[in-house]
Amino acid sequence: MHNIIIFASGKGSNAAAIIDYLKEKSFASIALIVSNKKDAGVLDIAAKENIPSIVVDKELFHSQEFAQKIQSFNPSLIVLAGFLWKIPEGLVKAFPLKIINIHPALLPEFGGKGMYGHHVHDAVLKADKKESGITIHFVNEIYDSGDIIVQARCKVEEQEDANSLAEKIHHLEHFFFPKTIEFLLKQ
Ligand code: GAR
Repeated sequence: MHNIIIFASGKGSNAAAIIDYLKEKSFASIALIVSNKKDAGVLDIAAKENIPSIVVDKELFHSQEFAQKIQSFNPSLIVLAGFLWKIPEGLVKAFPLKIINIHPALLPEFGGKGMYGHHVHDAVLKADKKESGITIHFVNEIYDSGDIIVQARCKVEEQEDANSLAEKIHHLEHFFFPKTIEFLLKQ
């Protein structure tokens, strides 16, 4: 049985999709959810699903204590599902090819610091792109620049706005993220 740790800052719809998918499987379960926001929706999901969760501030996040806590779960994967802080270098080094992130656009475009959620969709629309999509990639020391595992695309229609694009992107994410996790763990 693989242990997965999810880091998330927001609503947690991706975390929910992963939890739901794994409920029907027996190869992995979510051991812990970490959030940097005490009012994040993902914490309500954790409580409802009886998954342990912790809220971190910057100091704890960068501490040895936190790194040891993560190590204690012996995670096969650390999954960033809408997590907005950069991962400390020590953690990246401790878990090579075991930390993955989902980004709501086709990297290498529209990535980097400050590029999250609606900021990404606004930038895609402003650039008049005809398609967008999702990127699932390994995490390294630089924002949104680790090796790409999977990309999936969607059309950007004439009348598209950030909300409708976000909806399309979430749809792709909820389908591909759990399956990519399964693929990685079963290799
Ligand atoms: C997702 O669309 C994810 O791709 C994005 O945050 C959203 C979280 O939604 N991540 C980033 O923008 C990272 N740069 P959720 O809380 O409903 O899963």
